[in-house]
Amino acid sequence: MQELSIYHQEFVAHLQGFVTAKQPENLYNPIHYILNLGGKRLRPILTLMTADVFSDDYSEAFQAALAVEVFHNFSLVHDDIMDDAPLRRGKQTVHEKWDINTGILSGDAMLILAYQLFEYYEPSKFQQLAKLFSKTAIEVCEGQQYDIDFETRDNVSIDEYLKMITYKTAVLVGAAMKMGAIVANANCEDAQRIYDFGLNLGIAFQLQDDYLDAFGDPETFGKQVGGDIIENKKTYLYLKTLEFLDEKDRVQLRHLFAIQPNDPTDKIEQVKAYFISSGADTATQEAIEMYTEKAFGELEKLPIEESKKEFLRSFGNTLMKRTV
Ligand code: IPE
Ligand code: IPE
Ligand code: MG
Ligand code: MG
Ligand code: MG
Repeated sequence: MQELSIYHQEFVAHLQGFVTAKQPENLYNPIHYILNLGGKRLRPILTLMTADVFSDDYSEAFQAALAVEVFHNFSLVHDDIMDDAPLRRGKQTVHEKWDINTGILSGDAMLILAYQLFEYYEPSKFQQLAKLFSKTAIEVCEGQQYDIDFETRDNVSIDEYLKMITYKTAVLVGAAMKMGAIVANANCEDAQRIYDFGLNLGIAFQLQDDYLDAFGDPETFGKQVGGDIIENKKTYLYLKTLEFLDEKDRVQLRHLFAIQPNDPTDKIEQVKAYFISSGADTATQEAIEMYTEKAFGELEKLPIEESKKEFLRSFGNTLMKRTV
């Protein structure tokens, strides 16, 4: 296994070969803009790392890693339109810098480019990768639709929320890892186990994303802090707060999530105060730990060297502590 920074550096070097100037520039410039904005590169690193777990040569996994990252960035461009988000990775979102139509079409092109990257693989691998990719991509769409539907519903359950985040976020984390396993010729059972590890890690990851959306440091977070509160997102924090509050405060919180004030500053402050006073912030941290532990439980069943398991566990623990 390599240092995490090595997978990161090598991936970014590979990405640079993909990001070259093309016409029409109003289609390709936004694609290059979002891909060059950085980000953690979590998913492609997981693809490379998993290929490294199951084989001696992870270089075959670069194209799959790139496909995963291009798809992820496509989903962000469209997500930022749907969430009316002004900031991404500390910079203007694509639809703010250009316009909504540009965001739609450049996003569409990225989805197609992601798919096209699998053509590098021989037919039987191509088929396995494309099949997993299609299944994952449609699930992400389903998750994103639930997320939007829940904005205007006031009876969302924790189970519904968990299903929504499993689809919109966790399946791609699982798929990123499973693709690494497929490229590395892992057997089906092991590929499925590493998928389940990634899936649970992905659930923890989205819980943490929701937490940071409310409590992240605006100086470093890179997205608009409080964006989920402005959009009335039914996050774990919100649902747990509703569960823990007494009736009077519950009515007040529901009211806050039914209004769209021009200046959201007060709304954000009041909602965050409820998140804290109810203990939902602590409950969210506990859930993050619980799903990370569940992921580690999946690892136990994998017949790989203990040092590799330890590597994956330490990666999971690092994710849990992230601030971005
Ligand atoms: C953001 O993903 C979207 C979610 C699924 C939470 P990341 O937090 O991985 O975003 P980048 O790529 O590092 O910017
Ligand atoms: C994003 O969820 C999931 C996808 C992009 C598919 P969020 O809407 O919470 O992601 P951020 O917070 O904007 O990155
Ligand atoms: Mg969003
Ligand atoms: Mg969203
Ligand atoms: Mg978010």
